[in-house]
Amino acid sequence: MARETEVKTIEWIDGQVRIIDQTRLPNRLVYVILDTYPSVLKAITRLQIRGAPAIGIAAAFGMVLGMRAARTETYGAFRRKFDRIKREFLETRPTGVNVSNALDRLEKRVNGNRDASVREIQDVLLQEALRIYEEDRTTCRKIGRNGAELLRDGWVVMTHCNAGALATADYGTALGCIYAAVEEEKRIRVYVDETRPLLQGARLTAWELQRAGIAVTLICDSMAAWVMQTREVNCVLVGADRIAANGDIANKIGTYGLAVSAKEHGIPFYVAAPTASFDLSLDTGTSIPIEERDGSEITRGFGRRTAPEGVQTYNPAFDVTPASFVTAIICETGIATPPYGESIPRLVKTR
Ligand code: MRU
Repeated sequence: MARETEVKTIEWIDGQVRIIDQTRLPNRLVYVILDTYPSVLKAITRLQIRGAPAIGIAAAFGMVLGMRAARTETYGAFRRKFDRIKREFLETRPTGVNVSNALDRLEKRVNGNRDASVREIQDVLLQEALRIYEEDRTTCRKIGRNGAELLRDGWVVMTHCNAGALATADYGTALGCIYAAVEEEKRIRVYVDETRPLLQGARLTAWELQRAGIAVTLICDSMAAWVMQTREVNCVLVGADRIAANGDIANKIGTYGLAVSAKEHGIPFYVAAPTASFDLSLDTGTSIPIEERDGSEITRGFGRRTAPEGVQTYNPAFDVTPASFVTAIICETGIATPPYGESIPRLVKTR
């Protein structure tokens, strides 16, 4: 059943992609139509759509748009165009594994239909992209139900960035667990870090939770450790962009610091993510590519200069939290606990 507050982050409507322009939130809820693959590339790069599962879906729909525009009759030319567009999407946001997972699925469909006409392959690609979208919707519900088991009535949860409906097809991963717990009539309160430099926590998570009627308190990132020490925080619950085979987790910059603080304060640190976010080709998180973004996001965020002209900056968009800080990983297929080398393959296999 649809929630009254359902957020239509991304949809395929009449041959076009419709997204919420997340750069306009929380001030305005604006939908944007994307009808070419370059416009989808741009929307991903500019973070009009963001969050690992949502950009995986956007890349899949973007590929469909790109391949629909292919003016070729031969499989070889079609295939070369597919490879070129795939490379362009892979370069947009390298940390999350969902883009490459989604495009690998489409690639398999292209490979498996060598004898079909270009028109038929175009249709097959659209069906696969729609399947990725629908699967994410059901996956998030399952993650929510599994995660809700860990959250007790009256708990206070701290979260970072946005791993909610705005980061997925609907419902979210970390926030999905909170929504599911609240649907079970548990009283849950949430501290959300504002998440510098792009303020996904303040602009998106606070908006989303408030809209869903969930008690949310916004804090600056720098306050998190102090809040853990002086107020009640029962768990930290975040999403993930890529999870290595040993349970190391890449997520929004600042996640690692939260995990260290949580451990110091004896607070469980939970990660909620679909099995599509696992990258079992990586033994550990050290080889996860970390996206670096323009320094102007730190010095001139949201149009106002807040640092001297010419100052050097370093702006990694993600960090990697070692598995030793992670209490449990909540997936659609169950909950993984240490040792992750054993529990993660089990969860992925039951996918
Ligand atoms: O840079 P963003 O806003 O795309 O970063 C998003 C995050 O770090 C999320 O926590 C992650 O993608 C999980 S979303 C379910």
